[in-house]
Amino acid sequence: MSLYIDVVSLFPEAFIGPLNFSIVKRAQQLGYIVVNIFNPRDFTQDRYRKVDDYPYGGGRGMILKPEPVFESVEYIRKLRGEGTAILLSPQGIPLSQSLVEDLSRKNSLILICGHYEGVDERVALHLADLEVSIGDYVLSGGEVPAMVIIDAISRMFPQVIDSEVIAEESFYRGIFDYPHYTRPYDFRGYKVPDVLLSGDHKKIELYRRKEALKKTLNRRPELLIRSNLTELDMELLQEIFEEIAKNKLG
Ligand code: ADE
Repeated sequence: MSLYIDVVSLFPEAFIGPLNFSIVKRAQQLGYIVVNIFNPRDFTQDRYRKVDDYPYGGGRGMILKPEPVFESVEYIRKLRGEGTAILLSPQGIPLSQSLVEDLSRKNSLILICGHYEGVDERVALHLADLEVSIGDYVLSGGEVPAMVIIDAISRMFPQVIDSEVIAEESFYRGIFDYPHYTRPYDFRGYKVPDVLLSGDHKKIELYRRKEALKKTLNRRPELLIRSNLTELDMELLQEIFEEIAKNKLG
């Protein structure tokens, strides 16, 4: 069964490019996901098709009105028989790989893209099941975050990309990916680590795991706490700490 992803956006044209290449296109062609865009403007009742209005209490900018958003989502839920509605906003819970996995197992997702200065709070309180942020920065609308979610979901299905590749990737084991190299061996004097040319698969695996741990420790040490480290990982970390200590002591 396909996962229906219905997007509620005032800018449907923004999705034409991003939905039509590479992995996201492949996920659609294989029938894993079916993406449709709905414009809340089409759900307005007045002759001016008004979707925004001034904020109660004063303040900057225009606010997306609740009626067209409620009408759009209710229409989609009726069409699909269900629908987990997600409001994209900087105030949402942070998007993570485990949330992407959860979302990929649903039957119907509705991504609500905010715009202008904000969305009437009743959408978050009484319509959306979840509010999601893609990071601690403010974007001009929810379109790019919706595409981020669609992209991340697309890669979760078998045959879209090699499932072994997924298992090897960053975050699937809770830590970063290992470094990758291809030809040439010597590029402007920067050489590929010799272990990768050794043909010794055990050694290569150890090298990659250690490099992945090193990079994670350097850049995002907090990820190590949440990851499922094996006994071998602990030994490799011990080696890394010893190397750091040796370097510090000169
Ligand atoms: N809309 C504006 N900024 C956003 C963000 N960081 N994440 C999700 N939706 C947003």
